[in-house]
Amino acid sequence: QGQSLWGGRFSAKPADIMQAINVSIGVDKRLWAQDLAGSRAHCRMLAQQGIIQPADAEAILGGLDVIEGEIKDGTFPFRDAYEDIHMNVEARLSELIGEPSGRLHTARSRNDQVATDFRLWVRDACDRTVEQLKALQSALLDRAEQHAGDLMPGFTHLQTAQPVTFGHHLMAYVEMFGRDAGRFADARARMNENPLGAAALAGSPFPIDRHMTAQALGFDRPMANSLDAVSDRDFALESLAAASIAAGHLSRLAEEIVVWMTPMFGFATLPDDLTTGSSIMPQKRNPDAAELVRAKTGRINGALIALTTVMKGLPLAYSKDMQEDKPPVFEAFDALDLALTAMTAMIAAIRPNTEKMAAAAGAGFSTATDLADWLVRELNLPFRQAHHVTGAAVKRAEALGVGLGDLPLTELQALDGRITEGVYEVLTPEASCASRQSFGGTAPEQVRARIADWRSRL
Ligand code: ARG
Repeated sequence: QGQSLWGGRFSAKPADIMQAINVSIGVDKRLWAQDLAGSRAHCRMLAQQGIIQPADAEAILGGLDVIEGEIKDGTFPFRDAYEDIHMNVEARLSELIGEPSGRLHTARSRNDQVATDFRLWVRDACDRTVEQLKALQSALLDRAEQHAGDLMPGFTHLQTAQPVTFGHHLMAYVEMFGRDAGRFADARARMNENPLGAAALAGSPFPIDRHMTAQALGFDRPMANSLDAVSDRDFALESLAAASIAAGHLSRLAEEIVVWMTPMFGFATLPDDLTTGSSIMPQKRNPDAAELVRAKTGRINGALIALTTVMKGLPLAYSKDMQEDKPPVFEAFDALDLALTAMTAMIAAIRPNTEKMAAAAGAGFSTATDLADWLVRELNLPFRQAHHVTGAAVKRAEALGVGLGDLPLTELQALDGRITEGVYEVLTPEASCASRQSFGGTAPEQVRARIADWRSRL
C-alpha cells in the first residue's frame, strides 16, 4: 500500500489509470545495480561535504547493502505503487532504516538520478557489446586463417564477378565489426560524464561535490550544464545508432549464410545443433538462427526510430516522455546480445564446402577481367578496347559452351592475332586471386597479412 513520496501536496491517491500509465518498475528494475551505485556515491558525497551526518550516511549505506542482498536473493518487494526503481529503493530503505532514509534525497532529484542510472547502464551495455564484437571478430579471424587460400566466387549484383578467397570474404566482416566496436567505444567516451548533482534541472544550493560522485561512478567529469544533464538522451540514441549499424552488418552476414546454405548454392552447412528441421518435410535443414539474426535488425532499427521520435520536440528540461527511453534500449541491446552470440557460434561452426566454392569461383567467366588486364599489360591495348575484345571472347566461349580457359587459342587469335599461349596462365581462378597483391586485395598473402594485423590489435 504505497504512501506516495509527494503525498504532502496531494489529497487524493492516483486513479488506477494514472498508475497504469505511469508505472515503470517492470522495466526499470533492470537499473537496480546502477541505482544503488548512484545512491552510494551520492550518500558518501553528502557526508563528506557535511550535508548529512556520518551516522545517517552509515545507516543509509547499511540499508542499501540489505536492499542489494534482497534483490540478489529475490526477496526484494518490487511494488507498482512505488512507480519506478528509484522510489521502490527509497521506500524500502525507509522501511528498513526509518528516518535517515529521508536524508538520502537531499540535493538530488529523480531527474538526475535516472539520467545517471541510465547512463551507467548504457555504458556497461556498450562495453559488453565491444567484447562480444571482439569475440565475433576472433571467430572470424580463425576461420579466415583456415581458408585464406580457399577460392570462392566474389559477386557484384549477386552475379559472379571475380574470384576471391573465403578468408578474404570473412575478413571483410572483421573490418565491419571492428568499426562497429569503434562506434560503441566512441559513444561510450562521449557519454561518460556525470549527470548526478544536476538535481531537478537547475543544480543545487547545497555544497555538493559533483567531481567526487563523478569519480566514484567512473565518469570522466561532471556534465557542465544541469538542464542538459537531465534532459538529453543523445547517449542512448548514439548507442542505438551504433547498434543499428552493427545489426545491419550482422544481417548481411546472416543473409549470406542463408544463401550459402541453400542447396542451389551448397557453399556451406551448419551442424545439426545450429539448425532446425521441419515438422513436415523430412529433408529439411533450416538456418533459423541466421534468419533470426537477420530479423533482429528489425527490432533494433525500430528501437532507434522509437527513441528518436520520443525525444524530438521535447522542451527542456525533463518530461515524462523520457521514461519511454528504456524499453527500446533494453530491447535493442537484448536483441543485439543474442544476435552477436548466435553469429559467433555459427561462424565458429560453419562448414564451408570448399570444393563447391572453388568450382563456382572458376565458373561464370569469372576471370574475364584477368583476360582484359592481360591484353592491356602484354599488348598495350587501352583498357576499354581490351574490355571489348574480352567481351567478344566471353560471347564466343558461351556459344561453344566452354569456360574462358578452355577457349582454343585460335578462337582468341581470331579476336586479336597477337594473343599468345601465355594468356592461359592468368585465366585460372587461383592465378586471378594470387595476382591481386594490392594492399587489401584478395591474394592469400594479403589476406594473411591483414589477419596478422588484426590479431595484434584484438
Ligand atoms: N521513472 C522516471 C523515468 O524513468 C524517473 C524520473 C521521474 N522524474 C519525474 N520528474 N517524474 O524517467
